[in-house]
Amino acid sequence: MKILITGCAGFIGFHLSKRLCEMKHKVYGIDNLNDYYDIKIKKDRLNILRSNKLFSFKKVDLNNKKNLEKLFRNRKFDFIVNLAAQAGVRYSIQFPQKYFDSNIVGFFNLIELARKYKIKKIISASTSSIYGKNKKMPFKENERVDNIIQFYAASKRSNEIFGDVYSKIYDMNFIFLRFFTVYGPWGRPDMSLASFVTNIIKGKKINVFNYGNHQRDFTYIDDIIDGVIKASQKKIKNKFEIYNLGNGKRITLMQYIKIIEKKLGIKAKINYKILQKGDVKATLSSITKSKRELKYKPKINIQEGIDNYIKWFKKYYKI
Ligand SMILES: NC(=O)c1ccc[n+]([C@@H]2O[C@H](COP(=O)([O-])OP(=O)(O)OC[C@H]3O[C@@H](n4cnc5c(N)ncnc54)[C@H](O)[C@@H]3O)[C@@H](O)[C@H]2O)c1
Repeated sequence: MKILITGCAGFIGFHLSKRLCEMKHKVYGIDNLNDYYDIKIKKDRLNILRSNKLFSFKKVDLNNKKNLEKLFRNRKFDFIVNLAAQAGVRYSIQFPQKYFDSNIVGFFNLIELARKYKIKKIISASTSSIYGKNKKMPFKENERVDNIIQFYAASKRSNEIFGDVYSKIYDMNFIFLRFFTVYGPWGRPDMSLASFVTNIIKGKKINVFNYGNHQRDFTYIDDIIDGVIKASQKKIKNKFEIYNLGNGKRITLMQYIKIIEKKLGIKAKINYKILQKGDVKATLSSITKSKRELKYKPKINIQEGIDNYIKWFKKYYKI
């Protein structure tokens, strides 16, 4: 198959591109290689991908519709996986414009081209942040999401709504995957696991918001990739679907830190902080629908996942 993956130099895009090439699909990856976090890791991920002949890369910004269209002209993609986005919750409070440009205008450009070039299937990354201040746990795909508390989640929810409408008007199929805090080797340096591990190793204090009372459903990268692939293989029944991809278990921030301390053999120095604006207090996925319809089955528990991450981290950063 010919597959277009946006955001292929990113954490999830890298793992997905690699897996699809190993499955002998032809992957066309695009990314604007922005400097939201250290660009070296994006380039290192790309170098690994480039070693597979089935992978090809173009530096393209979703905002540049003209350049984006060049990709569509001579190829018929079997499907698109859209992972390019301005990610991050706290950053969206400072820089909403970046989220508007990449996540809303960029997304619109992509689905417009998909419509023009008759690409029928689009899988797009959504987020657990959409559940915002919803109280009832676990979060289910069919519940109302009227409690969004940051622009990042607002931009992702707007994508889901655009997709729903496009699927009703045009002959197009959309699957939105709501990822729950993804972690693992090659993970994003701006996320808590990377900053905790870095600071604990350096003997620096770590900032722990909401006094450590946050709860998260952490999902290991390989489980997420399995879920995305299963979504891509799913026979279309409904033209618009949303699936949670989580681990289906939650732990507190303090339990999480304890696991990291144990694996590193170093005690963390903690700077307790109040709850930050935009931070969701707790997440927990219901994966009943994903299990039933996608046969999604997360396998990696948090101890094993953090262990794998720390092994990769020490090797990559030569510690
Ligand atoms: N990692 C998580 O825990 C998590 C959780 C929920 C949702 N998501 C979503 O999953 C997707 C992938 O996340 P990730 O963790 O791999 O993030 P990432 O930042 O590592 O990857 C995103 C990639 O997209 C690229 N990009 C950004 N804007 C672009 C644009 N306008 N044009 C082209 N490329 C652009 C970036 O350079 C980056 O390489 C994102 O949509 C993110 O919002 C991630």
